Amino acid sequence: MWRVLTIISKINKNAPIGFFDSGVGGLTVYSEFRKLLPSENCIYFGDTQNMPYGEKSKEQLIEYSKKAFDFFVSQNAKAVVMACNTTSATVYDVLKDSYPFRLYPVIQSVAEIIAMLPYKTIGVFATPATINSRAYSKSINSVNRDIKVIEIACPSWVKIVENNLETTTEALGEIKLKLDQMLSYNPEAIVLGCTHYPYLLPQLSKFVPENLFINPASAYADYIRRDLISLDLLSEQKNNGSEIFYVSSSPEKFKKASQMFYRMDAVPEILCL
Ligand code: DGL
Repeated sequence: MWRVLTIISKINKNAPIGFFDSGVGGLTVYSEFRKLLPSENCIYFGDTQNMPYGEKSKEQLIEYSKKAFDFFVSQNAKAVVMACNTTSATVYDVLKDSYPFRLYPVIQSVAEIIAMLPYKTIGVFATPATINSRAYSKSINSVNRDIKVIEIACPSWVKIVENNLETTTEALGEIKLKLDQMLSYNPEAIVLGCTHYPYLLPQLSKFVPENLFINPASAYADYIRRDLISLDLLSEQKNNGSEIFYVSSSPEKFKKASQMFYRMDAVPEILCL
């Protein structure tokens, strides 16, 4: 505890916050965060070259995350937002004590909030790696054992989003297939447990009311805001903070795919780690 306090007391409050995902998914979180805390300096890294993370092994995910975190160390980040359910589910526990910044894994940050909702059956759509880890059911049931959590993997959905294929007949068919599977359990709410999935809300809501879905992004951003306040780590800048976007490949494609959640001025820079 003392070590954590000592480290935090030395942190420059105006140091940047890193955002990490395999691609455009993290922008669903970043857009909410930016609304809440516009004066923070932010660095976003989307590892588009290695996307989709949901189909990678734990060893590969550790390797990608270490490279991203080392990069954020080189940028003197005061905190890193793991805006990726897949790495939060598989890698966070392994790397959480190895870095000098505050780490915010999405699942662990929002599970308690979800567990407090007045529901008995909650569905979770997520990537195969997140579903295999059972991270959502474990963390929700650690708070409330009475909630039945139905977890269903949607392997093709991330590629649909990254490749702007949302409106194709094939994509709609894939989305309906998983939705029908989930609806057979009669969930009272369905968590979009991959940060890419909110991009599919226009398609999902063709079949069921949009308010059936929980996009954890705003609760997650607010959790981070409250934690930064409690640690006295908010930026002291009066003006809007800086923002830089990096991707490991296909910057033009990233900019196009991201538009529904965040309209960036420039094309992101390439960063090969
Ligand atoms: N958006 C990430 C998640 O929340 C990663 C998706 C992927 O690359 O498979 O799980």
